[in-house]
Amino acid sequence: MDVMVQAQGLRKYFPLRDGRIWNRRSVKAVDNVSFDIRRGETFGLVGESGCGKSTLGRSLISLYPLDAGRVIFDGQDLAALKKGELKKFRKKMQFIFQDPSASLNPRIKVKDILLEPFRIHRVGTAEERRQKIRFLLERVGLSKYHLSRYPHELSGGQKQRVGIARALALNPELIVCDEAVSALDVSIQAQVLNLLSDLQGDYHLTYLFISHNLSVVHHVSDRVGVMYLGKLVEVGSHDAIYASPLHPYTRALLSAIPGNGVDRIILQGDVPSPSNPPAGCRFHTRCPYKTPRCVSEEPILRNVGEDGHLAACHVP
Ligand SMILES: Nc1ncnc2c1ncn2[C@@H]1O[C@H](COP(=O)(O)OP(=O)(O)OP(=O)(O)O)[C@@H](O)[C@H]1O
Ligand code: SF4
Ligand SMILES: [Mg+2]
Repeated sequence: MDVMVQAQGLRKYFPLRDGRIWNRRSVKAVDNVSFDIRRGETFGLVGESGCGKSTLGRSLISLYPLDAGRVIFDGQDLAALKKGELKKFRKKMQFIFQDPSASLNPRIKVKDILLEPFRIHRVGTAEERRQKIRFLLERVGLSKYHLSRYPHELSGGQKQRVGIARALALNPELIVCDEAVSALDVSIQAQVLNLLSDLQGDYHLTYLFISHNLSVVHHVSDRVGVMYLGKLVEVGSHDAIYASPLHPYTRALLSAIPGNGVDRIILQGDVPSPSNPPAGCRFHTRCPYKTPRCVSEEPILRNVGEDGHLAACHVP
């Protein structure tokens, strides 16, 4: 399968503002992260709250400027593009947000929400736009009745369907789904996941599927990346990650899935602050296998198995 997106050494720090001008610390939300997304796959990104998943997803499609590193999309280094050219590439990369209520403008009707991408990118005539948004609405399981509704008149699942239709408007290649079903009831989650899967087949979409829910990621992903405190600690095929995880953090995360047949590994301690991460391996303060080397030397992500199975751990 060919590679669609190459993320190379991505870094995104947020300055810490607490009123003291001598405070130069920052939140190291994404720190030197590299991985590939293959064309047509669903790449699942998991990790505890605050580990940097959303920041990574946003940085990847230029919603946040990077502090370091580069993103190669379809062979093109996005940082090398002029503003107008980047806008063209942006059409290929869309984002579906966690909270459909917050991501849809409450003051405009569904019709105008869906027309927005066409207006911003100056695509299509008025008639073409009208036809396309009706088609999109039907494609996501809504009807023209919903065109004149405001977001607050829709259920959570319907709002997320509008968010999906909006993401599809300009025929994207990559969609970053950031906790796209986390805010929905379980029964609605399954419907929206099925819709995303159907759309992927019909439109050859590639997904970066971000979720703190390992069961959901298990269900949808072809490959999986595990993040801890701003770092990617393990990457592998669905089977490699779920059947033979190597990183102690991945193992602990997976052990928490109900009914997966392994003893639960309870991690001691809290996740350290991302503004002051531990030296060496960032996981060492909670790792049951740590050695002195783990405290002094940072493990790099290296090959540990077939088909690009990578893990960052000193202990084999
Ligand atoms: N715009 C921002 N300004 C400052 N700090 C931020 C900003 N966005 C995120 N952070 C911080 O960066 C770190 C990573 O946050 P991020 O939202 O990427 O994590 P996450 O893995 O998506 O978490 P969650 O599962 O809760 O959505 C956190 O410490 C967060 O507080
Ligand atoms: S490098 Fe050491 S501390 Fe880090 S995960 Fe591996 S064994 Fe644990
Ligand atoms: Mg997030």
